[in-house]
Amino acid sequence: MKNFVNSATRLRATHLLLLLTLTITLYSPPCPLTEAASSSTQELLPGFKARPDPSTASFQPLLHDPTGALSLGFLRTNRTLLSLAVLHLPSSEPLWVSDPTRFSRWSDKTELSFTNGSLVISDPGSRVVWSTPNSLGGDRVVLLNSSDLQIQKKENDGGFSVVWQSFDFPGSTLVEGQNFTDAMALVSGNGLYSMRLGKDFMGLYAAFKTGSEQIYWKHTAMEAKADIIEGKGPIYARVNPDGYLGMYQNGTGPPVDVQPFTNFQRPVNGLLIVRLEPDGNLKGYYWDGSKWVFNYQAISDTCELPSPCGSYGLCNSGSGCSCLDNRTEYASAGCLPAESGSGDFCGDVVAEDDFWALRRKGVELPFKELIRHETASSLEECEDTCEKNCSCWGAVYSNSSGFCYTVDFPIQTLLSVGDETKVGYFKVRKGARKGRVGVLLRAMIGVLIGVVLVFVGFIGFVVYKAWMRRRGVKGFFDDDQTGGVSPGPYKDLGSASFRSLEMCNR
Ligand SMILES: *[C@@H]1O[C@H](CO)[C@@H](O)[C@H](O)[C@H]1NC(C)=O
Ligand SMILES: *[C@@H]1O[C@H](CO)[C@@H](O)[C@H](O)[C@H]1NC(C)=O
Ligand SMILES: *[C@@H]1O[C@H](CO)[C@@H](O)[C@H](O)[C@H]1NC(C)=O
Ligand SMILES: *[C@@H]1O[C@H](CO)[C@@H](O)[C@H](O)[C@H]1NC(C)=O
Ligand SMILES: *[C@@H]1O[C@H](CO)[C@@H](O)[C@H](O)[C@H]1NC(C)=O
Ligand SMILES: *[C@@H]1O[C@H](CO)[C@@H](O)[C@H](O)[C@H]1NC(C)=O
Ligand SMILES: *[C@@H]1O[C@H](CO)[C@@H](O)[C@H](O)[C@H]1NC(C)=O
Ligand SMILES: *[C@@H]1O[C@H](CO)[C@@H](O)[C@H](O)[C@H]1NC(C)=O
Repeated sequence: MKNFVNSATRLRATHLLLLLTLTITLYSPPCPLTEAASSSTQELLPGFKARPDPSTASFQPLLHDPTGALSLGFLRTNRTLLSLAVLHLPSSEPLWVSDPTRFSRWSDKTELSFTNGSLVISDPGSRVVWSTPNSLGGDRVVLLNSSDLQIQKKENDGGFSVVWQSFDFPGSTLVEGQNFTDAMALVSGNGLYSMRLGKDFMGLYAAFKTGSEQIYWKHTAMEAKADIIEGKGPIYARVNPDGYLGMYQNGTGPPVDVQPFTNFQRPVNGLLIVRLEPDGNLKGYYWDGSKWVFNYQAISDTCELPSPCGSYGLCNSGSGCSCLDNRTEYASAGCLPAESGSGDFCGDVVAEDDFWALRRKGVELPFKELIRHETASSLEECEDTCEKNCSCWGAVYSNSSGFCYTVDFPIQTLLSVGDETKVGYFKVRKGARKGRVGVLLRAMIGVLIGVVLVFVGFIGFVVYKAWMRRRGVKGFFDDDQTGGVSPGPYKDLGSASFRSLEMCNR
């Protein structure tokens, strides 16, 4: 409380009234503090507290930017989950979330507070769920028109300095003007893919296997306008209002690399963003006032995405997905059950007993230039290398080049190519086909039970009718034919998702 009073004395008189209201509400904790959520709130001051309102359907704003188009607030996901997010209000698109990997509960006991100069989310048990570092000494929280959420400290000269900003902790989205450094990572909403910077490149990585990552896209700086100079510091990336994703080296010189958007050098009025999508592609959009317009993608060929057809899938440019195992029909759930594609074959059990080998001609690895390979004199030698290595999931041999590519992560989607001399060898966990057989079996049992039930019903009906007729009750069933097939519960699937996370189809 001492800290609270100290900072209060430093505040301007105009803030005193707001502070008083806050202090009053501070002493009546059980009710949701919605007073602070007025649409004009442009700064949060020490002592601020807010709780989610049970009647909120999707978003409860707490703080607005000067334009009113952006807001910090509680975002409600799946009815029961809460995250603190900066939302682009016209599109309901979150540009930043406090903790992309963890949610809090949407409970009227969950609380956001600005105490001791830090933002803190505590759960119903008063446990801290998320917070900014706790000795920031911030005096106010503001949301800039760039979507940057800042905790600022008042300086002796009357100005404010930034002690923490959300721009330093991106989630899946990079906003125009935000500096993306080599210490940061952009992570897709599903947590599978990430973007990071290397010494002279930008890379996209997939976590196909826990504890290791496979790079699947690499863009090396072109250094057309400026060279990367050794010792001048690391590179960073930024979405430039002139319509490109630039890479720069320490300082504000010309970019060392330019990845142009479709609106390159034709500045647009609306906000530009770049986002790592759940399919592993890096895509750019701009807000045209009514919708997000797609203007950039790192990977233009769908088959070059990290896993467009799922595990053990086969991608054919033009004709879509099928399965590596030609006896399996492709379904959206993938070609093999998920448990067949995790971990590796190293363990106590003899490796040969754990898997069977699936071979397919005319296949190639996507992003093969980024995959480990060595030369082998024959297909047999290539397969043998993989078969004997328990951390190898498969190998693809190219007879023409003699390259043997080995895959050290669970098999994802392969590319279908015309060249039949490119042969793939893939390990499949034993029992992995069981899931499919199980589904078929269950379906067959279901049908059988249905047939039996209908038959029993029919016999019962005949017997009953004969019995009724014998008792002289006629036409009982003939008159009661109105109750037909009931339409069943109707679900409006469209309205269930008020806030679509997929922007690609807009
Ligand atoms: C939200 O619900 C959907 C469908 O029930 C589910 O697929 C998704 O994983 C849930 N999201 C979270 C974050 O729990
Ligand atoms: C704020 O700081 C004071 C003293 O530094 C400490 O006693 C108090 O528990 C802190 N409050 C929170 C919410 O962390
Ligand atoms: C955002 O704010 C800056 C100053 O803080 C201003 O120069 C700029 O024009 C504003 N942009 C918009 C879109 O309002
Ligand atoms: C990004 O970096 C440039 C160059 O270092 C700097 O001038 C600019 O203020 C930074 N922008 C933000 C939002 O931090
Ligand atoms: C950026 O460059 C300046 C001088 O050119 C240097 O003082 C500073 O340490 C560099 N920053 C980083 C992060 O390397
Ligand atoms: C499936 O693949 C095997 C081995 O490559 C081949 O012998 C067989 O003819 C193929 N079956 C069909 C239906 O394409
Ligand atoms: C593989 O390449 C060798 C020579 O490089 C050739 O003799 C052989 O016929 C090729 N095998 C196939 C199956 O194409
Ligand atoms: C087995 O494969 C892994 C990854 O592909 C590799 O790092 C390792 O060196 C291989 N081991 C042998 C004995 O070849």
